[in-house]
Amino acid sequence: MTVTWTSGYDIKEAVPFVLWGFKGRVQKKSPAGTLTFKRNSMCGSPARTVGWKDPGFIHTSFLKDLWPNSQYTYQMGHLLSNGTYVWSKSYSFKSSPYPGQDSLQRVIIFGDMGKAERDGSNEYSNYQPGSLNTTDRLIEDLSNIDIVLHIGDISYANGYISQWDQFTAQVEPIASKVPYMLGSGNHERDWPDTGSFYENMDSGGECAVIAETMFYVPAENRAKYWYSTDYGLFRFCIADSEHDWREGTEQYRFIENCFASVNRHKQPWLIFLSHRVLGYSSNEWYGLEGSFEEPMGRESLQKLWQKYRVDMAFYGHVHNYERTCPIYQNQCVNSEKSHYSGTVSGTIHVVAGREDAPYTTSGVSIGITITGL
Ligand SMILES: [Fe+2]
Repeated sequence: MTVTWTSGYDIKEAVPFVLWGFKGRVQKKSPAGTLTFKRNSMCGSPARTVGWKDPGFIHTSFLKDLWPNSQYTYQMGHLLSNGTYVWSKSYSFKSSPYPGQDSLQRVIIFGDMGKAERDGSNEYSNYQPGSLNTTDRLIEDLSNIDIVLHIGDISYANGYISQWDQFTAQVEPIASKVPYMLGSGNHERDWPDTGSFYENMDSGGECAVIAETMFYVPAENRAKYWYSTDYGLFRFCIADSEHDWREGTEQYRFIENCFASVNRHKQPWLIFLSHRVLGYSSNEWYGLEGSFEEPMGRESLQKLWQKYRVDMAFYGHVHNYERTCPIYQNQCVNSEKSHYSGTVSGTIHVVAGREDAPYTTSGVSIGITITGL
């Protein structure tokens, strides 16, 4: 389990660590790394200018050799140079099942959540007031949730850096208790001439420097936000739609390897995720484009979904919910609408972008829950 937090202590001022162990038993200390980023590592404005705020120091610690499905407690600490300690409050989590282990596994997947202020005091980019509803429903239901995947468009800070702190404060009751896995979206990554696949300005100059520093993901290179993660009966292959995924690219090789390297006898659920819709969506823009997807998505990836029998593919970006029938060669292969059993022989594509009517608090949509069988 990875624990990440932010403080005002540079490594020269205090040593960061996590004190953790089985609930009610002797606790041990694990060291934490310290990262930060500077104004000149931002790619443009407003992140470099009016949106800049010193982020403090971001600490990450890896709690290793966990026993599966066990209750742990943990507490962040800093040892100051004068020998005294500063402590956070105490938190707890249940460790993940061993890959391939059969147990009840409940997964929440959505994109595009964002943040908002409860007193309505946002001055900048007040995009996602309904995110409070989603956050509150998740917190209420937290005892029925094992892992959360937030697949891109995370805070919508768009270069106003203090809003990342608002976002992490908003999701802390969730992210401090269950694994909160992130994907990268256009609002984290896109900026012209910085290597993003799309040359727009959606990140407000952040060019993913903030997301890749603030959130640990088990990627080989966090600047390329693709990775795989196993959770019990599931293998999740998380793509980065803001980097080229087409055949022949490094990311395409990763996706194929992620699909090919899982033992389906042990992990029957193979799930593909990306921020933009690389499968199917009836979103208006995609419809006008005539593609009903992000152009060039299926062209490269469909043969991999089919060859490796991917069960489900999830997307955000479109702020809505849609789910296809199981699809093979662009055709529905099953007329069932909601309860599937046995071999499905196609991939179900789900758009789970958190819906939000602007400037109201009516949007409630928490994606989909899958229960491993
Ligand atoms: Fe998006």
